[in-house]
Amino acid sequence: MNLVVGATGLLGSEICRLLAAEGKPVRALVRPTSDQDKVAQLESLGVEIARGDLKDRSSLNAACLGASAVISTASSTLSRQEGDSIKSVDLEGQLNLIDAAKAANVSRFVQISFPPVDVEFPLQDAKRGVEKHLTTSGLTYTILQPTFFMEVWLSPALGFDAANAKAQVYGSGENRLSWISYKDVAKFAVASVDNPEAHNAVIKLGGPEALSPLEVVRTFEELQGRKFDVQHVPEQVLREQRESASDPLQQSFAGLMLYYSRGDVIDMRETLNRFSVQLTSVRDFAKASL
Ligand SMILES: NC(=O)c1ccc[n+]([C@@H]2O[C@H](COP(=O)([O-])OP(=O)(O)OC[C@H]3O[C@@H](n4cnc5c(N)ncnc54)[C@H](OP(=O)(O)O)[C@@H]3O)[C@@H](O)[C@H]2O)c1
Repeated sequence: MNLVVGATGLLGSEICRLLAAEGKPVRALVRPTSDQDKVAQLESLGVEIARGDLKDRSSLNAACLGASAVISTASSTLSRQEGDSIKSVDLEGQLNLIDAAKAANVSRFVQISFPPVDVEFPLQDAKRGVEKHLTTSGLTYTILQPTFFMEVWLSPALGFDAANAKAQVYGSGENRLSWISYKDVAKFAVASVDNPEAHNAVIKLGGPEALSPLEVVRTFEELQGRKFDVQHVPEQVLREQRESASDPLQQSFAGLMLYYSRGDVIDMRETLNRFSVQLTSVRDFAKASL
């Protein structure tokens, strides 16, 4: 049994879909407040539903019972209810889940994180704290550290509005990033359960090529045959936002934007020798959005 925590989210639902398509048994942790359409969609895939919350250890003990693998994608950054915070969910909730998995003798634990970044912010502290707990837990772990999901960071929610030829760029837009599709991250997560190369491993994930945000804009411009209106948020403004924000979530968003502005190039050659995943490029993504 594969328990997916975060199953109603973007990445978690794709992981459930892939596992179900492979004929693997899947259990999804959902909350009473989770979107009922998303829960119904999981049920239509044949996924078993477990009710619980990362803040409620006893619900995690029950969800882990009989599970051989746990894959956790959950985060409070975008999908939050009362009482949810980076501290209560992304840190303490994930620690609870690791402890529950250990107590239930789960044999594989796959955690979604992101690469270490040279910027201080609460979400990064939580991710690093969870990684440390997991690597010392005695569980057979895989920590996946993807960079930026193109479907999230190249979307209107974050100021990249391809349909209206407008792009908000964080920083100069000149530093290259290995944008990755969340669908490819889901493939790595599923493969990590059985692939011995992934056991007790920390794996950085990026897409097939690193492009600066301005190169991404040029790719879209070329495919759409029109110029984009590009607005920059200067790095200095992001630094000030991170320093002046009192809310850990706002500090974390500013921290992630600073990470974006500095860029991060991941060389995937070695990882692709160990996993057979065909990576989606920004150009593929841009073409699909035409
Ligand atoms: N976006 C990126 O570019 C990026 C890059 C690198 C890594 N990541 C990581 O990728 C992971 C997946 O991201 P995503 O986009 O799939 O997130 P998402 O769509 O916001 O999904 C978050 C999930 O977490 C669940 N959740 C939140 N609080 C919970 C709680 N207290 N108890 C149980 N479940 C809870 C949500 O459930 P409900 O539906 O019930 O709220 C939802 O299923 C995250 O860990 C994120 O940090 C993201």
